[in-house]
Amino acid sequence: MRILALETSCDDTCAAVIEDAAIRSNLISSQAEFHRRYGGVVPEVASRHHLQLVNAAVDGALAEADCSLDDVDAVAVTRGPGLIGALLVGVATAKALAAAARKPLIGVDHLHGHVAANFLEPDPLEPPFLCLIASGGHTLLAGVRNPRSFEVLGTTLDDAAGEAFDKGARLLGLGYPGGPEIQRAAEGGDPGAFEFPVAMSRDPGLDFSFSGLKTALVYKARDLGEEGVAAARADLAASFQRAITDQLLAKLERALDREPWPAVALGGGVAANRELRERTAALCDDRGLRLKLVPIELCTDNAAMIASAARFTEPTPYPDYLDWDAYSTGSALRAA
Ligand code: KG4
Ligand code: ZN
Repeated sequence: MRILALETSCDDTCAAVIEDAAIRSNLISSQAEFHRRYGGVVPEVASRHHLQLVNAAVDGALAEADCSLDDVDAVAVTRGPGLIGALLVGVATAKALAAAARKPLIGVDHLHGHVAANFLEPDPLEPPFLCLIASGGHTLLAGVRNPRSFEVLGTTLDDAAGEAFDKGARLLGLGYPGGPEIQRAAEGGDPGAFEFPVAMSRDPGLDFSFSGLKTALVYKARDLGEEGVAAARADLAASFQRAITDQLLAKLERALDREPWPAVALGGGVAANRELRERTAALCDDRGLRLKLVPIELCTDNAAMIASAARFTEPTPYPDYLDWDAYSTGSALRAA
């Protein structure tokens, strides 16, 4: 089964071709340079860039996979959740491509895509496993019992983990995206120098919250003043990073205490964080669990993961998808 997939839910214009679980091409056109000057993703700017980039991304993905639209069995696209204007560019393009070639179209849930990154070659992970997805837009613990769906065990009540990194970086006078900037600034810093609240630590559930942490940093930065922040930047970054990873790991551990998952996987842009990767590896080591870490380019948004989820999603035959819309929130998939 050969699938051409498109992903335009946020600020990356992505197209990929997979053949069963093997990636034939995986193109990612990052718009980060356009959003950097604003310190975050501007939805209208993202939509306009998707429009300019999407056709070249599709052509590039087909060319690199050495095939044409006629050679694919189905087209797949992210329908949501994400930025609605950005999603619509991908959905409209995918509908047009599929309809022109009289192919089926597969509408994919973005978060199912992050989970499905683990099903790709090499070394695909088979369910059941526990998957922590932490990105700029989402933070959730997904219980994966079969490849077709996932169960949301816990999610963020406010900001996403990546958003906390991005906002924290701005408060520390660092650039965008904030995650890598904080990770770099934290090198050599003392993670115990400042005390930040580890939210939800007494909450028995599996939900996350990051807005209190951000507020704590706002106050700390105000107390220290600009020069004080500059002088203590490494310690502040290390302590802030530690507070985020503490919360992510605490909830991961709690989920493992509740149910004996045999394997753990990480996904989303925050999964690129070295401290999170190392601490999760230590946790899995301690508990004798398998840890699956896909390469960074499959952690952050990409279309190969959407194609991978499409393999386990019902295709819609031509022309039944012509009235499809995108959805900005919620999910087409709930519970296993
Ligand atoms: O998955 P992704 O590329 O896009 C979304 O779906 O949001 O995630 C982007 C997020 C940003 O918030 C960025 O700051 C964060 O992932 N990120 C990191 C690291 N690299 C990217 N956070 C912490 N440490 C990193 N090394
Ligand atoms: Zn994502």
